[in-house]
Amino acid sequence: MKNKTKALMARGAAFLGSEHAILCGAMSWVSERNLVAAISNAGGFGVIACGAMTPELLDKEIAGTKALTSKPFGVNLITMHPQLFDLIAVCAKHKVSHVVLAGGIPPKGSVEAIKAFGGKVLVFAPTLALAKKLLRSGADALVIEGMEAGGHIGPVSTSVLAQEFLPALGDEFLVFVAGGIGRGDMIAAYLEMGAAGVQLGTRFACASESIAHPDFKKAFFRANARDAIASVQVDPRLPVIPVRALKNKGTEEFTAKQREVAQLLDEGAVAMGEAQLLIEHFWAGALRRAVIDGDVESGSLMAGQSVGMVTQEDPVADIIAELLTECEAALSRR
Ligand SMILES: Cc1cc2nc3c(=O)[nH]c(=O)nc-3n(C[C@H](O)[C@H](O)[C@H](O)COP(=O)(O)O)c2cc1C
Repeated sequence: MKNKTKALMARGAAFLGSEHAILCGAMSWVSERNLVAAISNAGGFGVIACGAMTPELLDKEIAGTKALTSKPFGVNLITMHPQLFDLIAVCAKHKVSHVVLAGGIPPKGSVEAIKAFGGKVLVFAPTLALAKKLLRSGADALVIEGMEAGGHIGPVSTSVLAQEFLPALGDEFLVFVAGGIGRGDMIAAYLEMGAAGVQLGTRFACASESIAHPDFKKAFFRANARDAIASVQVDPRLPVIPVRALKNKGTEEFTAKQREVAQLLDEGAVAMGEAQLLIEHFWAGALRRAVIDGDVESGSLMAGQSVGMVTQEDPVADIIAELLTECEAALSRR
């Protein structure tokens, strides 16, 4: 069944070792063992969000995920993590099949270290030139992520990235499209343009198997696309990566945090790298408060613009089935 979708997803699914070329993008605090295993068990591809975890915690999370699924899953590592190479060693210990390097250009030796233990590497790239360079120098696949997405975002929309990257790279390389995907019709369009598969986050964040706090989920069900707004940079000296989240009091607290960190920078109390790490720690803490504690007032409700299409709690298997049915229907109408 769903033959057209299956045919277009074949390359991506073979690469991932999953039934469908649908990744659930890593979401810090949300993408832990339960959601990751549920996604992989349902035929998708789950990815553990390492975020700011220590190597010891990642070790436990991988072991815990393995106990819940025998299907392949990936681990998402943030390139600016100070213990990146120790985290890669943990992935090596567990023979993790796929590692996603996120949050910046992979530092020297990181792609090689993953390939050395037989892991496949997925990378992000902000420009076509850099994408080509990374893919020609060892990365196995690319994720392009538009600014419709939840969490940390770049400046360009998914539709424009898709037009720029897919015709240029889609035949030769594996490219997965992320950002703003809420229905299978959109998946069909990107597959037809040459994508190997897709990555969704927002659509899966409130699945039944997600451990996110009920109040976090309620905020998602109530929100519309226009509520998921990108943070603004208040000080030109402190470049911060914008984050898309549902507007709340936490949005203002981030403005205050930026002022505080910019002042530390001015006083010479911290260097730029450290300043950026302080900002990232702010987000990690704020996201934890929202996801785990259910503090939807001042916590960070990271969400993409597709949040308006998330209206109720459904099991992962139902969400995937719905996406595939919509995708196949769209392809059949062509
Ligand atoms: C709550 C939340 C947390 C996220 N955390 C991470 C993360 O830790 N690492 C990462 O690479 N991407 C992260 N993302 C991005 C997702 O992996 C995924 O690429 C994105 O959600 C796809 O776009 P969509 O939200 O429009 O579906 C996060 C997204 C959300 C909504």
